[in-house]
Amino acid sequence: MKKVSKICCIGAGYVGGPTMSVIANQCPEIQVTVVDINQERIDDWNDEDLDKLPIYEPGLKEIVGANRGKNLFFSTEVDKAIDEAEIVFISVNTPTKTYGKGKGQAADLKFVELCARNIAKVAKTDKIVVEKSTLPVRTASAIKSILENTGNGVNFEILSNPEFLAEGTAVDDLLNADRVLIGGDDTPSGQEAKNILSSIYEHWLPKERILQTNVWSSELSKLVANAFLAQRVSSINAISALCERTDANVAEVSRAIGTDSRIGPKFLNASVGFGGSCFQKDILNLVYIARSFGLQEVADYWEQVIIMNDYQKKRFADHIISTLYNTVSGKKIAFFGWAFKKDTNDTRESAAIYVADALLEERAEITVYDPKVSEDRIYADLDELGTRSPEENRRLLKVVKDPMEAAEEAHAIALLTEWDEFKEYDWNTIYEKMLKPAFVFDGRRMLSKAEMEEKGFQYYKIGQS
Ligand code: UDX
Ligand code: UDX
Ligand code: ADP
Repeated sequence: MKKVSKICCIGAGYVGGPTMSVIANQCPEIQVTVVDINQERIDDWNDEDLDKLPIYEPGLKEIVGANRGKNLFFSTEVDKAIDEAEIVFISVNTPTKTYGKGKGQAADLKFVELCARNIAKVAKTDKIVVEKSTLPVRTASAIKSILENTGNGVNFEILSNPEFLAEGTAVDDLLNADRVLIGGDDTPSGQEAKNILSSIYEHWLPKERILQTNVWSSELSKLVANAFLAQRVSSINAISALCERTDANVAEVSRAIGTDSRIGPKFLNASVGFGGSCFQKDILNLVYIARSFGLQEVADYWEQVIIMNDYQKKRFADHIISTLYNTVSGKKIAFFGWAFKKDTNDTRESAAIYVADALLEERAEITVYDPKVSEDRIYADLDELGTRSPEENRRLLKVVKDPMEAAEEAHAIALLTEWDEFKEYDWNTIYEKMLKPAFVFDGRRMLSKAEMEEKGFQYYKIGQS
């Protein structure tokens, strides 16, 4: 089997950056180059101050610091890196289409296609091209058809190697992966390519955790894994609404069902709704593919997971409005958290964005505190919705760096992200700073109802009456 000496990854984002850093760390003899067309992003990856890395992930800066400049490089020289590499990973973004056919559902493969065309143009030697990141089914065949028609005599093997890392735990997920999935053709050259890619992961993972499948199974498994996880969250969120109307407590229900080994305990935390770049997008892809094959019932079944998630976010916002005497106009509401989950600065599809939008429509005045998300990002998230003008968003919503400032004279606090620090706050001081009655709406079930009520708060948490 051919020994790999150089690999390249196109796309220095949430997937490409951490994945390649871990590969470089575990495979000292392989030179890993991560390229991106975004100069600013590459500069941030190369910043001497490791706190300026473009992505916040626990453990990442240590790994980058230990390997950068040795066998890990970040660069904008895309062509050079492709030319030199034996394996090229494609890890660019594939957002949901915002125009044309499949708008709002299908993935936009524009960036992937551009990458494939670039590889076709630059490559002078045979290469293994690996589709990474969050790509929809049939991407590999699209890449293949672009690469096969270049006519410059180079052989390409296309592999699907979907990423299962979760943000906030990316480094740990990569180092201790439950499984690595490698999809490729069953031809002799396809098999060899799968074995070569497998040999990289075998540096640190036992062989039995590296699963080889055909391309379609691999691509579809990625969508299905995320759809199943999201479905569990929507299922328990549906039950949380029922718990609020009865005397049942959703945490007790989660525990009770999760101890059944056939169900299992994970992904049963009721919340204000799931977010992140993958869950919604992957389900929309699944729905789109099912519809395109005429499988209406299959499409409707999975779409319901998203409908339930939208309902949960709306329900939370509506509950805040109705509790605050049916009007939030001119009232200060503090948001604790903006990221879609703790330990990440990523905000894509975060529930906070949609809850804020609903409250701003009612003319609430929101003050946001998040330990890792920048002010620019928060305004960009709101502006992208296009519900109101950027000026209006900046007038109604403020971003602060101190949670106590957010709480000052607030009518209510809404907990949107489960950052650990929120549990450690001096809630007695927060109570004193707020207007009375002081309301707390806990979208992450972080705090104790009894303790909060004892401190004087009017306290609500998802899934409990
Ligand atoms: C079920 C619950 O498992 C049990 O905990 C509860 O107390 C009563 O209901 P039961 O109906 O006896 O038990 O059988 P179960 O093994 O759960 O199977 C139910 C149906 O699902 C069967 O028709 C089974 O063939 C089917 N099934 C189960 C599948 O089609 N695929 C599976 O992977 C599992
Ligand atoms: C997910 C998958 O877990 C990962 O395998 C895949 O590669 C990418 O998509 P990620 O989006 O980073 O990862 O985060 P995840 O931990 O799955 O959480 C997704 C959303 O669900 C978050 O908003 C989280 O807060 C929410 N969630 C998760 C719940 O509301 N309740 C839960 O019990 C679990
Ligand atoms: P993901 O979560 O999938 O990693 P990100 O948006 O965080 O997505 O990262 C994708 C990266 O891919 C971005 O930094 C973007 O600039 C980069 N990218 C997109 N198209 C190209 C391309 N043709 N060549 C190089 N980099 C690209």
